[in-house]
Amino acid sequence: MSDIEKIEKEALKAISGVGDLAALDEVRVAELGKKGRVSGLMKTLGKMSNEERQEMGPKLNALKQRVADAVEARKAVLEDEALEARLATEKVDLSLPARPEPKGALHPVMQVFEEIAAIFGDMGFSVAEGPDIEDDWHNFTALNFPEGHPARETHDTFFFSPQGEEAAKVLRTHTSPVQIRTMMAGEPPIRIIAPGRVYRNDWDATHTPMFHQVEGLVIESGIHMGHLKGCLIDFVKAFFEVDAVEARLRPHFFPFTEPSAEMDVKYTRDGDTIKIGDGEQWMEILGCGMVHPNVLKNCGIDPEVYQGFAFGMGVDRLAMLKYGMPDLRPYFEADPAWTRHYGFKPWLTPSVSGGLS
Ligand code: PHE
Repeated sequence: MSDIEKIEKEALKAISGVGDLAALDEVRVAELGKKGRVSGLMKTLGKMSNEERQEMGPKLNALKQRVADAVEARKAVLEDEALEARLATEKVDLSLPARPEPKGALHPVMQVFEEIAAIFGDMGFSVAEGPDIEDDWHNFTALNFPEGHPARETHDTFFFSPQGEEAAKVLRTHTSPVQIRTMMAGEPPIRIIAPGRVYRNDWDATHTPMFHQVEGLVIESGIHMGHLKGCLIDFVKAFFEVDAVEARLRPHFFPFTEPSAEMDVKYTRDGDTIKIGDGEQWMEILGCGMVHPNVLKNCGIDPEVYQGFAFGMGVDRLAMLKYGMPDLRPYFEADPAWTRHYGFKPWLTPSVSGGLS
């Protein structure tokens, strides 16, 4: 066998035998590189006679070409294989969830805020807000609490140190100051709810120094107690997801409403669970009334033209009743086990049509 045939045979065998691009390159250098075998044969052309060169030249060139072609062909195959392998490892499973399951859960109070906003939103209410640190005028005076009146003390108020001549600021004791802020900022008709934190110096199984209320305010002309009662009964039915609720308005006192009432609903207790709607016993669930004419006047609204109703409810307690939490204190202990047990999936936004809970 001539050198040409031997080298070609060996080179092609080596080329087809390599498994990766690095090994292929070694073979290429060994055959076609400057010091390679094929290049070595090419160099012998210089020492040949003319006749020999005419015969051997084309043969050696053809050898060089075939080896180079074989290297290129093998390279293309190996590159394809490498790409396939990479694609296989980088495969994206489109059936996987778009993001990992979040570990956190929505606190029941936040869930109930959302539910309440969905129900009143459906009735045409919008959401208003006010500051947690409130001045004496918005928290008390404008709401018709007379200076030095004992009603101010029933709120167990947290006072800040007084600054100069002004009355000490307070941590708001209720969401009712948002009524004042809303009436001062806009004209009737007004239909708002105001969810938020409130603060009172109190601490036991059903009272925490910080808790949550939702205020409601409607100011239009021709509004009366019938609207108040209808609106609140519709709310209670929607919130507790029951078809009928027996409710009563029991006379009460708030400085900022006249007449004032507390709303009670009938309920049945079955072991640890409480069913709202019917039964033998009454449970108080909120305070309400017709906005006092003095409050309207304090906000520049003519009580001869506009009337309205207001209500305020404790959200923590509504959440306890609806979702069966027996004690209020763990609400604010930030225990992940409690939140996992009582919490809600954050992306299931409640809606009246799509379901509340
Ligand atoms: N602000 C009252 C409270 O905290 C509740 C209330 C609001 C009563 C609106 C009547 C009208 O107890």
